[in-house]
Amino acid sequence: MARILILYYSKRGNTRKMARLIARGVESVAGCQAILRTVESNLNDGAEVKDPIISEQDMKDCDGLIIGSPCYFGNMAAPLKQFIDTTGNLWFSGTMEGKPASVFTTGSSLHGGQETTLISMMLPLLHYGMAIVGLPYSERSLLYTTSGGSPYGATHWTEFESNRPIDDNEKQLCIVQGKRMASIAQKLCIVNPL
Ligand SMILES: Cc1cc2nc3c(=O)[nH]c(=O)nc-3n(C[C@H](O)[C@H](O)[C@H](O)COP(=O)(O)O)c2cc1C
Repeated sequence: MARILILYYSKRGNTRKMARLIARGVESVAGCQAILRTVESNLNDGAEVKDPIISEQDMKDCDGLIIGSPCYFGNMAAPLKQFIDTTGNLWFSGTMEGKPASVFTTGSSLHGGQETTLISMMLPLLHYGMAIVGLPYSERSLLYTTSGGSPYGATHWTEFESNRPIDDNEKQLCIVQGKRMASIAQKLCIVNPL
């Protein structure tokens, strides 16, 4: 069984909805399990916690990691960064090395920094020694989307009031990302059994 950890922060629920779709993609691959986790918020923002809070053990146990955050000033949100900054032991021990990883985000402004947010989340994953997985253009939704979606990872454009529903192309790219990560993790598990 390949365990794919989907770790996200969400204040208004959009990033959580993407996490659920990505989980659906993960679980469409036989023998793969999606584990949804969130982080504690240091922003006193009233974010509703609907999944268990991440632990260091969750990180150790996973065979692949997908992290998601709303775009905050073109960067990942502080609560996710706060958690990552407590994981020096995971970095130093090489626990995450060689596992696949990918990223997703939501933003209310179409060109307001979704891609930079994705890249900001890739940086610590590269420091962990993880293998970054993106989205290939063989997935046609990437060519036709007029909203979210990028080769760097799934995105959802939430519009000014942050209440625009996830459209079909965005949804498809979330599902494909989960599926792709699960298949790759499964192959790596066979090569490198823990
Ligand atoms: C402090 C703050 C900064 C934000 N910065 C950006 C930004 O740089 N670009 C953008 O497109 N949206 C920005 N937003 C909007 C959020 O990214 C957007 O509402 C997102 O969909 C919220 O995700 P959630 O529903 O998971 O909480 C910002 C929101 C807040 C509260």
